[in-house]
Amino acid sequence: MFKTKISGVGSFLPEKVLTNFDLEKMVETSHDWIVQRTGIERRHVIADGEGTSDMIVRAAQKALEDAKMSVDQIDLIIVATLSGDFKMPATACVVQAKLGAKNVMAFDLNAACSGFLYSLIVADQFIKTGFYKNILVVGAENLTRILDYKDRDTCILFGDGAGAFIVSRAEPNETNVILTGHAHAEGAHAELLWAPAGGTKVPFSQKVLDEGQHFMKMNGKEIFKNATRTMATCCKEALEATNMSADQIDWLVPHQANLRITEAVANQFKFPMDKVISTVHETGNTSAASIPIAFDMAYRDGRLKRGQTIMLTAFGAGLTSGSIILKF
Ligand code: UT7
Repeated sequence: MFKTKISGVGSFLPEKVLTNFDLEKMVETSHDWIVQRTGIERRHVIADGEGTSDMIVRAAQKALEDAKMSVDQIDLIIVATLSGDFKMPATACVVQAKLGAKNVMAFDLNAACSGFLYSLIVADQFIKTGFYKNILVVGAENLTRILDYKDRDTCILFGDGAGAFIVSRAEPNETNVILTGHAHAEGAHAELLWAPAGGTKVPFSQKVLDEGQHFMKMNGKEIFKNATRTMATCCKEALEATNMSADQIDWLVPHQANLRITEAVANQFKFPMDKVISTVHETGNTSAASIPIAFDMAYRDGRLKRGQTIMLTAFGAGLTSGSIILKF
């Protein structure tokens, strides 16, 4: 069995910003309420005419640069997203063409906000078995185009962006590798966070459009409870699997949904907040993109360093959840 290392990291946030003050003019809300309840101050919005794949290409190029690798070395592209360019084909194939990657397998993976973590676990298997050597793993979302800007329960929370890792086969003597990965699904709670129509079960119609049933719907309170429960449990699971205690973890990079969720998770397994990466004030919730964006921002500002032990944890619609511990 081979081991998997993170050989490059990159991210992209669109230039356009939507502040809480902008939202005050659109729905009955306030900057203070949003900051107090979520920690979010602004979120980025994709440029007109661009798609998820355009953000991915920029994040992927940065990750390739960081890995000092050319696109020809990539064997597989996995795009974690719930907001790809098209219903078909997969956004990963659009990315393959835009990057000019030859001889790759390319597919999308939808595990909502846990998608990047799920994708890393999948990529890890392809590396471990020796099937592939270098994999581009992306989390990217174009959520602002699927939000109802009349629904203050959801529209204040989400933003757009993309983050990418290049994961590669480690040399036998390398110790900076993925140490463990865990993922779960609890579909019985799917209706707590979903888009009820616009798929194949309830296809698009004038009625769907008029009623806004294609927009994201969320039971915020229940999602909050489930997010803290599952992410804390997943962190404990990863610590047990590696026989590590929380004080051996240098940084926690959780899914960026809400600062209060992050604090509650950290608190549940007594992890200090000064070792937690939080970028939610700048990005809002970017679903599958949130972990690689937060990771890249903290890597580039010097907090995350090579050799450190880092725990990732995510929660999302599905309900999905998971955790990874890696040495960076
Ligand atoms: O990746 C996973 C995706 N989802 C999430 O992470 C969301 C998880 N849930 C949450 O983050 C929180 O539940 C929210 C931020 C969505 C809401 O916070 P909350 O503390 O659960 O607020 P609440 O729903 O209990 O509402 C409290 C009050 C209510 O007013 P009353 O009944 O106390 O008078 C709401 O009507 O705040 C009101 N309210 C708002 N006020 C201003 C609800 N939404 C807003 C708003 N602006 N946007």
